[in-house]
Amino acid sequence: MQETQAELNLALKQYLQTRRSTPAMQLQEPGPSPSEIEGMIAIASRVPDHGKLAPWRFIVLAGDVRERIGRELGRIAADARSDLGAKEREIEETRLTRAPVVIAVVSRAAPHPKIPEWEQVLSAGAVCYGLFMAANAFGYGANWLTEWYAYDDSARPLFGLDQQERIAGFVHIGTPAMQPADRPRPDLTDIVYWAE
Ligand SMILES: Cc1cc2nc3c(=O)[nH]c(=O)nc-3n(C[C@H](O)[C@H](O)[C@H](O)COP(=O)(O)O)c2cc1C
Repeated sequence: MQETQAELNLALKQYLQTRRSTPAMQLQEPGPSPSEIEGMIAIASRVPDHGKLAPWRFIVLAGDVRERIGRELGRIAADARSDLGAKEREIEETRLTRAPVVIAVVSRAAPHPKIPEWEQVLSAGAVCYGLFMAANAFGYGANWLTEWYAYDDSARPLFGLDQQERIAGFVHIGTPAMQPADRPRPDLTDIVYWAE
């Protein structure tokens, strides 16, 4: 059956009014297939992007590589904290194996003669949200996280980041194990001013 435009609009509105993240710990197998991942990235890269610079890129972390990088995260955490216990180290080692697939969105924002760097960074944020919604559209739950390893200089080589690049998000994707309760949302009267 072909939905009418009005039905599609209604479904989209209902989705946007109710969507929310699934905590990474609650994202289980099955995860998206390689072709679904490509479909999600195609959607996510279709974002507002002043100057058509594509000032972002994607790193797909699926399968064993998550364990290998996780072991390195555990080592970095242990090097930084001599009091890190076995349980805490295990938490670090399993950061990337909570969800079946993690996609790193990397901002490549850089000085440009016409396009402010700030706008390039904003576009990377839009990519993260687009990827989150694309995961939902494919029937998966998602969680946009950064956590400490997005900002740690020792972790940068694990993701092959160039000097100018920064992690905008690690978008965790999988099958939701539960329906998360909503969280408080801002009161519009606190955040909206109708200019006169
Ligand atoms: C850039 C960015 C980084 C985030 N990093 C984390 C994080 O490291 N840990 C965390 O618990 N939530 C983090 N969040 C928050 C979650 O992604 C999300 O906002 C929260 O779980 C509720 O989202 P919802 O409105 O989709 O339900 C981050 C959000 C953004 C925008």
